[in-house]
Amino acid sequence: MLKARIISTGSYVPENVITNNDLEQIVDTSDEWIIERTGIRERRIVNGTQATSDLAYEAAHQALKKAGLKPGDIDLIIVATISGDMVFPSTACFLQKKLGAKKAAAFDLNAACSGFVYGLHLANSLIKSGAHNRVLLVGAEVLSKFTDWRDRTTCVLFGDGAGAVLLEGTKEKQGICSTHIYSDGSLSDLICLPGGGSRNPCSKESILKRLHFMKMKGNETFKVAVRTLEELATRTLEENGLEPSQLSLLIPHQANLRIIQATAKRLGLSPEKVFINIEKYGNTSSASIPIALDEAVQAGRCRKGEYTLLEAFGGGLTWGSALIRW
Ligand code: ACO
Repeated sequence: MLKARIISTGSYVPENVITNNDLEQIVDTSDEWIIERTGIRERRIVNGTQATSDLAYEAAHQALKKAGLKPGDIDLIIVATISGDMVFPSTACFLQKKLGAKKAAAFDLNAACSGFVYGLHLANSLIKSGAHNRVLLVGAEVLSKFTDWRDRTTCVLFGDGAGAVLLEGTKEKQGICSTHIYSDGSLSDLICLPGGGSRNPCSKESILKRLHFMKMKGNETFKVAVRTLEELATRTLEENGLEPSQLSLLIPHQANLRIIQATAKRLGLSPEKVFINIEKYGNTSSASIPIALDEAVQAGRCRKGEYTLLEAFGGGLTWGSALIRW
């Protein structure tokens, strides 16, 4: 049966590093608090002029180069993002222009931190159906421009970056075994950016109320995330007839080290089977899994025949998983 297979990966993070000590100078926080509660030591932040499509381009360019393909070989571009260049046109269209991928249709996907896994679900479905042959999927964020640098409860968490994968159809055993996506809009108030849309359009008042920055009820989100991700991982493996011991690598969304460790513990996975890079980049939302995936591939941690589980949780609320056989 036809399914999608990841043929190459790429990633990019900005050069500018912001450490926890740097944040101590801006808000009432400490290196100890941030490390203990989140696992984050530093994050990358764009320079003034870089926008999301610039980061997406770097990651996509790498993925194309590694696959030995040209932009003209892509027939669909999906960019998962909540921090696009503009409200519209889509960041995917800006990326299409930068790449010169003239044959590709292009659109954005908004599922917050679950965006990349949602994108895999969509790309896999479109390839399976025969609607598209070769898809470029990018998770890219410049969250630093939507971060309230006066709010210590959020500004210590997020970072900028992009990750990309190229997918094409295969009838071999390797490829995307299954994808699972879920939402609960009744909890939309837990993580949101209230200003700038049709509900709260930009006005002097919306700016004074700081509505154009991300808001998060962290502790409530944390509890739902732990419960949901544990269930999701277990169910995904069960549906594929796999025991946790058959998994070679778990690549979770990098939002909080304690959430990652709780899921790993529930599955009985040893630390070497869990990919963690949150200490370097913080939470890069939809970019977090594809950046980690690229690093895992480069480190030789996704070998032929092995299973990798991806799972994410984010604003919406949204959550989802993808099981890959290499
Ligand atoms: N430095 C120092 N103290 C802080 C900081 C900070 N940066 N931030 C909060 N505090 C304080 C709080 O004010 C509170 O003080 P109080 O007890 O006097 O009221 C105390 O620390 C504890 O705050 P909590 O919010 O309960 O801390 P918690 O242990 O829950 O950690 C965190 C907060 C890190 C945000 C955690 O809840 C978390 O990671 N939540 C989940 C995030 C997530 O998964 N998001 C989904 C993806 S995001 C997306 O989709 C865009």
